[in-house]
Amino acid sequence: MNSPTLTTAMTDRDFEQVVLCRDPGTGLQSVIAVHDTTLGPSLGGVRMRSYPTFGDAVADALNLAQAMTYKAALAGMERGGGKSVINADPAAANRRDLLVAHARYIEALGGRYIPAVDMGTTVEDLELIGRHVTTVSSQRRDPSEMTARGVVAAIRAAVALHDGVTLAGARVAVQGLGHVGQHVARLLTEAGAHVLAADVDPGRVRTACQRYGATATPVGDIVGADVDVLVPCAAGGVIDAETATTVKARYVIGAANNLLADNALAVTLSQRGIVHVPDFVANAGGLIACDAELREDDSALLTKVDGIGRTSEAVLGRAAETGKDTVTVAIQLATARLERARAQRPWFTTR
Ligand code: NAI
Repeated sequence: MNSPTLTTAMTDRDFEQVVLCRDPGTGLQSVIAVHDTTLGPSLGGVRMRSYPTFGDAVADALNLAQAMTYKAALAGMERGGGKSVINADPAAANRRDLLVAHARYIEALGGRYIPAVDMGTTVEDLELIGRHVTTVSSQRRDPSEMTARGVVAAIRAAVALHDGVTLAGARVAVQGLGHVGQHVARLLTEAGAHVLAADVDPGRVRTACQRYGATATPVGDIVGADVDVLVPCAAGGVIDAETATTVKARYVIGAANNLLADNALAVTLSQRGIVHVPDFVANAGGLIACDAELREDDSALLTKVDGIGRTSEAVLGRAAETGKDTVTVAIQLATARLERARAQRPWFTTR
């Protein structure tokens, strides 16, 4: 992403603030994207990943931050959408220095962006960031199990709504058995589904086979597997122009952020009769858990995460009524909540 593209993206996509950060001492190159704070301070993960260019890191941060706004709005939270990205290999020898330098930039925003764990960072990293930033989430627990619970709630709701059945006997393909995918495989097995499992790490596949009776499936075959449900829990962009036209699963619902390479592919899926719950609806469980951690109140956590099932039903129901694809419908529902809130309070939120 070059600078004219960045300024255009800010205005066309309604970004409040994008902070590009550099620290020559540590070599830090990072970005903090605050998309919208209408509903509250933005909450989103710190991603550490090595991108081909800094522009690619900025583009990713923008996409992820915008999705966080919709995610928080649809999950009924008083949080805005933000994300930050450190353009570095998570295995970098000076990762602690990079995290601290990045943390200082976060603190300078005065609480408009609250960091949490994301790809390439850990609970320990957030604890380190918390020594330099006043408000930080994911310092005490990994939210992934709640993300998995929400994804499975979305799958259950979709299957019940469209086919009137439970997951007992369903064939489900889980791509990626990391923090989220391993719990997804467990929960689906407990629900009576038969799990096909794939991961680039063979050890993780072995564990899933031993623990849950999953069937090991080659990485290259999992997306096109002949199953009822495809559950992407690895990287984004799994559904691209090609796989959107070839995927065999009747349901595509997963944790992977930016699961569709392009939102327009939701139309292709819908035209093929494939039921798709957008990632920013299905994977909100982790965000709900981070919010509960910040408020130090878990009393409604499971109820709220299971509520992702009802939100999924609402999105699928509206899509069926209007003939629109589920991504368009979900964004419209989120935007309507933001507009209602904007009418009542200023758009710019500080602590
Ligand atoms: P993770 O890094 O712990 O796990 C990803 C797994 O996918 C790893 O085991 C990796 O070996 C595997 N993998 C990578 N490429 C693969 C491929 N081509 N085929 C098969 N397996 C592959 O990540 P985590 O935390 O489980 O997140 C998974 C996805 O869910 C990511 O897209 C993340 O952004 C998204 N997400 C995660 C949340 C969380 O609470 N952890 C919350 C919301 C979204």
